[in-house]
This record gives sequence, C-alpha cells and structure tokens, in this order.
Amino acid sequence: MKIAIILGSTRPGRFGAQVSEWVMQQVEGRDDAEYELVDLADYDLDLLNEPTVPGAAKRQYDNPKTRRWSTKIDEFDGYVFVTPEYNHGVPAALKNAFDVLYPEWVHKGAALVSYGADGGVRAVEHWRTILANAQMHVVRGQVSFSTMLEAESGEDGEVFAPAERRTKEIGNVLRQLTRLTEATSSLRS
Ligand SMILES: Cc1cc2nc3c(=O)[nH]c(=O)nc-3n(C[C@H](O)[C@H](O)[C@H](O)COP(=O)(O)O)c2cc1C
Repeated sequence: MKIAIILGSTRPGRFGAQVSEWVMQQVEGRDDAEYELVDLADYDLDLLNEPTVPGAAKRQYDNPKTRRWSTKIDEFDGYVFVTPEYNHGVPAALKNAFDVLYPEWVHKGAALVSYGADGGVRAVEHWRTILANAQMHVVRGQVSFSTMLEAESGEDGEVFAPAERRTKEIGNVLRQLTRLTEATSSLRS
C-alpha cells in the first residue's frame, strides 16, 4: 500500500513544510504502508485550464503539468492532506490541484492534517465535503495544530513545536487510514 503525504501549501516560507516533515518523521519505522512526501510546489500546476471536465477526461489531459501530477497521484492508494486554512476555507492551490484530476482520487483513502489559529478545523470540514464528492474514504480522526500554541518565533520565522499528544494522535490517524484504505481496495480494482 502506498500513501502520499501531500504538502498542500505552495507559499515561499510555508509553515506547512515543517508540518509535513513532522508527519514524515512519524511514519518512520511503520510497516503498514510505503509513505512518500509529495510537495505540491514541485508540480507548478496551472489554474485549471483543461478543456475537458476532469471527471470525463479519462486521464487524457492536455496540459503536460496536469499529466505529470496525474501520474504521481495515481501511484497511491491513499493520502494524508496537509492543509492550511485560508480565509476560513481550503487553500486555493491545493483545491486546484484536487480539481484538475478526478479518477485518480476515486475510492482512495484520505486523512487530514491541518493547522491554523483555530487548528485549521474549518478547512478540514470543507475538505470532508470536497473529498466525499470524489468518493474518497476519509477517516474520522484528524490532527489539527494550533499555530498560536504550537509554534515559536525563531530567527527565520515560526518554528513548529507540536504538543506531545500529537504523536499519539497521528499514530491513530495513520492506523485508521491504512485500515480503511486496505478495506476499500476492492473498490479500486
Ligand atoms: C491567504 C491567507 C489566509 C489566511 N486565513 C486564515 C484563516 O482563515 N484562519 C487561520 O487560522 N489562519 C489563516 N491564515 C494564517 C495561516 O494559518 C498561516 O499563515 C499559516 O502559516 C499558513 O500556512 P502556510 O504557511 O503553510 O501557507 C491565512 C494565511 C493566508 C496566507
């Protein structure tokens, strides 16, 4: 089973890089899946400019950047979306990255790791309805970091300082995710 940790912020100096790196540290030594960090910024996606609706395109995209993203996302059985909250909703770059594909996401497993002043929980609730539209199997558990309480000022900006209980929380989320992803594998074949 392959699970992608998707770093969903593309901003220079993004806090999300530290959160994603922490998730990658937490998966070290786990033998339930093969985990890989997928940095959205590496794909430099254009704002949706495919003439055919992705749900009807049968993976035949015009834009080479979309094709490269499609090939990468298709490799995985499940995803951990590491998402900030922007203006009480999901970040546009990650929403666009989601919108440009469709069959690549269908019946895959999903979990959400968020961060923001209030833990990014409004973005998570928004994501849950979005992911459901692609028939993704989203676990109940989530990890939502408070940027007010779990970040400290450093010389180069905010330094991520996750609370101790987060290790247990992410362990539970990953357990839910791998079990649900495994249990739904027949729907993807
Ligand atoms: C466009 C924008 C909108 C934001 N809106 C919110 C918000 O609604 N709620 C919140 O908690 N933080 C908000 N923030 C603050 C972010 O939580 C904080 O900047 C965080 O570091 C963003 O993640 P990133 O650095 O990985 O992009 C916003 C930040 C940006 C750039």
